[in-house]
Amino acid sequence: MENTHTSYLIAGAAGDLGHRIIDALLRTRPAREIRAGVRGGSAGKHGNRAEGWIANGVTVVNMDLDDPLSLKHACAGVGTVISAVQGGPDTIIDGQSRLLEAALAAGVGRFVPSDFSEDLFSIPEGINPYLDMRRTFDRKVSPSGIGYTHILNGGFMEAVFSNPGLIDAEAGTITYWGDDEVPLDFTSLNDVAAWTVAAIDDPTTVNSVVSVAGDRRTIAQIAADYAAATGKALHQVRRGSIADGYAELRRMAKAGAHPMAMLPLQYLLPMMSGEGALCDIANDQYPTVRPTSLLDFMKRHYLTRGGKR
Ligand SMILES: NC(=O)c1ccc[n+]([C@@H]2O[C@H](COP(=O)([O-])OP(=O)(O)OC[C@H]3O[C@@H](n4cnc5c(N)ncnc54)[C@H](OP(=O)(O)O)[C@@H]3O)[C@@H](O)[C@H]2O)c1
Repeated sequence: MENTHTSYLIAGAAGDLGHRIIDALLRTRPAREIRAGVRGGSAGKHGNRAEGWIANGVTVVNMDLDDPLSLKHACAGVGTVISAVQGGPDTIIDGQSRLLEAALAAGVGRFVPSDFSEDLFSIPEGINPYLDMRRTFDRKVSPSGIGYTHILNGGFMEAVFSNPGLIDAEAGTITYWGDDEVPLDFTSLNDVAAWTVAAIDDPTTVNSVVSVAGDRRTIAQIAADYAAATGKALHQVRRGSIADGYAELRRMAKAGAHPMAMLPLQYLLPMMSGEGALCDIANDQYPTVRPTSLLDFMKRHYLTRGGKR
């Protein structure tokens, strides 16, 4: 039996993106049956957020990617599974594969994998392990027979500008590799959530990639936005060519750098090279989403929160 198209399970519902997807589902029509999939069970663990969900008719379900029985129960009767989990290969490949199996067994119609990145499909293997594992999972989901939709959005504004890898507000620098005229894609978390819901409400996005971008700015434009938002000029620091950047990553790996120390460069370099640039940006297809520009984001981010997340 086909499951109702208006029932949704959000895996990783307690996460930064997951809870915003629930908010976006609640804000938009049609009325939906929403299940917030949280690890560790009871609504109690998630405090006020879970209370708000329950008051709005959201069901909180226990959902651990390591526990197939919990996945079976969570997927029963669901039309769309949206995964917003985060983790290593045990989560992104193995855990999401168990969730996919449960979704297939339950007759789920659509599966959104936890991608939410720059264009992971145009980046060569071996540059960014986090994107590599998402392509590995795609090789499972694409041929599985479930309807799938990949959402690509460039860097989350909140993530990129909370890390001193690009802008170091204290040092007053913007650091880059390559050319300062290459456009980089950024989207705020709330806009990613809103576009995710718009994309899954669109029947034409089954078995496809949906690319959306809140803003697209070069290094020079980002520096100009920062100056306009804060009144402070940034010193542009060019560290070298793109090839120099990749050599730096190899040097860090050889020196045994902590994976988290390498992560910003692993994401930023393919953006700065243009390899991770989004193609066929679909913003115009979803006019109800009015995205936050980088300038407006920066005004809020740097002035009201001092750049801290
Ligand atoms: N483009 C960008 O710049 C950017 C930046 C950040 C994130 N992202 C992407 O956005 C997506 C969501 O990230 P996020 O920042 O929202 O992550 P997050 O805040 O860390 O939330 C991830 C959620 O996944 C849940 N989870 C992890 N392993 C699980 C398991 N085995 N079983 C059940 N639940 C599990 C966690 O549960 P607990 O609460 O129990 O730990 C958590 O609620 C990811 O695909 C991430 O790569 C993109």
